[in-house]
Amino acid sequence: MQVRAVLYHPELITDELYHATLTRVDPDAQAKIKGFYRREDACRTLIGAILLRLVLKERGIPHNSITVSKTPEGKPYLLNQGPDDPIAFNITHDNSLISMAFGPGVHQAPAFSIGVDVMKVQIPAHDTTDSFIAVFEQQLTTLEKSQLASDIPEQQRVERFFWMWTVKEAYTKALGLGMGFEFIRVEFDAVQRQIKIDGKTPKGWKFTLFTIPDADDLYEGVAAEFVGGDGSQVHDEVAKDCSSWLTVVDALSVLQRAVDELPSISSLVYKSGGV
Ligand SMILES: CC(C)(COP(=O)(O)OP(=O)(O)OC[C@H]1O[C@@H](n2cnc3c(N)ncnc32)[C@H](O)[C@@H]1OP(=O)(O)O)[C@@H](O)C(=O)NCCC(=O)NCCS
Repeated sequence: MQVRAVLYHPELITDELYHATLTRVDPDAQAKIKGFYRREDACRTLIGAILLRLVLKERGIPHNSITVSKTPEGKPYLLNQGPDDPIAFNITHDNSLISMAFGPGVHQAPAFSIGVDVMKVQIPAHDTTDSFIAVFEQQLTTLEKSQLASDIPEQQRVERFFWMWTVKEAYTKALGLGMGFEFIRVEFDAVQRQIKIDGKTPKGWKFTLFTIPDADDLYEGVAAEFVGGDGSQVHDEVAKDCSSWLTVVDALSVLQRAVDELPSISSLVYKSGGV
């Protein structure tokens, strides 16, 4: 499994670069991106789409053969993949960070069991830690709530909460179910670094915990993937050398790379049927 992450600061992306990059994705993806009211939201989804296409280009997959479809629950996947070496991927974005996890598709084709989530470790300005956590209380287990008790140091509570939430999001995204899976069924023990689903360790699952700094901000991220076998793995990669599987770049360079390396759609013939 690999993770690519992009730090996106809107003021650095010119209109010219945005529009040039938009021509590097197929008409269906363009329509979706243009449908956002806010340019920043459009840009986050555009960057995710570009990340996918650059990774596919690295793997020698022709640009005009890329068709992204989605499951009835909305999980995007690559259409028309052959049985050999299919690619599993999942995308996430929050504030200034867009990230994609990808790897071999081994379980639950066509969208496969891979999910990623990133969140900025920050309580919204209008909330206190108590009021913020209270909003999510219904989806936290008894153990999780005890690890978020108000006598625990503030920063530790906040960091623990975001780990719990990103674990829940990453796992449900790996299942492809989104809102269709009760978050309370997923438990992250922030002290022991253990994950349980419905009270049991999930056999065959691997969870990778990582952080990405952005100036004074910190993002917590979790990738969940089904790898098979009898074990259940939680890899806490915080403060470790992640360079063999995690790449962080800035949006300007990734969009410029797309313009330089991906052909414009006007020069390609696309099949319809994607999203
Ligand atoms: C789809 C869902 C899983 C996305 O979660 P999110 O944290 O809001 O957003 P993320 O940035 O992590 O993920 C968005 C990406 O997930 C992918 N995605 C969409 N539906 C998906 C699904 N059913 N399964 C997996 N991935 C999905 C898409 O690539 C999307 O990005 P794009 O539209 O730019 O391509 C979300 O709508 C959901 O159902 N979340 C769980 C329910 C909940 O209670 N959330 C509360 C959050 S505070």
